[in-house]
Amino acid sequence: MNVLVTGGMGYIGSHTCIQLLQANITPIIFDNLYNSKASVTSRLHEVTGQELAFVKGDIRDKELLVSTMRQYNIDAVIHFAGLKAVGESVQKPLEYYDNNVNGTLVLVDAMREAGVNSLIFSSSATVYGDPHTVPITEDFPTSATNPYGRSKLMVEECLTDFQKANPDWSITLLRYFNPVGSHQSGRLGEDPQGIPNNLMPFVAQVAVGRREYLSVFGDDYATPDGTGVRDYIHVMDLADGHIAALTKVGDRSGLHTFNLGTGNGSSVLDMVKAFEQASGKSIAYKIAPRRAGDIAECWADPAKAEKELGWKATRSLQQMTQDTWRWQSENPNGYPE
Ligand code: NAD
Ligand code: UFG
Repeated sequence: MNVLVTGGMGYIGSHTCIQLLQANITPIIFDNLYNSKASVTSRLHEVTGQELAFVKGDIRDKELLVSTMRQYNIDAVIHFAGLKAVGESVQKPLEYYDNNVNGTLVLVDAMREAGVNSLIFSSSATVYGDPHTVPITEDFPTSATNPYGRSKLMVEECLTDFQKANPDWSITLLRYFNPVGSHQSGRLGEDPQGIPNNLMPFVAQVAVGRREYLSVFGDDYATPDGTGVRDYIHVMDLADGHIAALTKVGDRSGLHTFNLGTGNGSSVLDMVKAFEQASGKSIAYKIAPRRAGDIAECWADPAKAEKELGWKATRSLQQMTQDTWRWQSENPNGYPE
């Protein structure tokens, strides 16, 4: 089976390629390198012992997509490509709608032309907005508070309408909670450009001496220690979730929606403590005001994915922090240029 992996050079996509190969599925990476480096291919080669096909291109380039799908006899698409920084999306909404919404529409149009009708889409827990309660099940109401979140919600809605009109298609919406960690080899990991927006990469950069201290955004939430609670999931568990979706429902027509989370909530201070244990470094932090748009707590009910996909996250908080530390300490400046 040949799978086109858009955004396959990025954080989650590159880890998913490793697990695809493990499952004897051939990934063909399609990425414009907007937020990733070409050296990811040599790291993938090192870890898997295999040469992966990589096409440098933009998902808004329909012709290139169609010819790539034909050239490689693509059976299904896993669609990671997109922009993902919430704050930046507020400053650059057009770029976000163009990349994330228009880009997905062009991709689906290209799939239709090439005769490929199985798609897995990277959605996000952000589509639940500020949930009225936790844990969150897939039938919770959806809403969005920023252009990034709205772009994910719009794509979900477009794909839902498209699948209704094309009932022979298989479309799977995977709503990720908070992906962290890295491949256990320490050769692949998350490599944010500039100042990290997300907690885990920021903490890792404090530990390695690239940042002085962590700002903890708020300690007055209605949570056990006052700091925000999230469902952190190891990126390799998330990667496995894609293989499960592809093999269990990727050839079954319909619209399929799954939460990919662990079902456990951890606070910012829990994560700091876990990281200190894993790294043996102490993490300096200061309490700062709440970050605009943040919610108090968010974690998944992952029962549907377990029941229907036979998938469940198995890696512990200790593995998430140990693997992050191995990647960060062995690659303090991320991937080479
Ligand atoms: P990432 O930025 O590391 O990877 C995305 C990849 O897509 C990059 O390699 C980038 O170069 C590529 N890309 C961007 N625009 C493109 C375009 N127009 N054409 C071709 N390639 C393009 O991000 P990630 O963390 O791996 O996230 C992957 C997907 O998962 C994204 O859609 C993101 O919105 C979604 N997601 C991520 C998180 C998270 O916390 N990381 C949470 C929920 C959902
Ligand atoms: N936090 C800090 N300091 C930091 C960064 C984060 O205290 O420097 C806190 C946040 O306030 C929050 C928690 O750490 O309580 C997690 O924040 P992240 O930015 O790591 O993650 P979010 O839950 O805010 O958002 C992430 C992705 C979104 C995605 C969402 C749900 O960034 O794209 O998970 O999947 F939509």
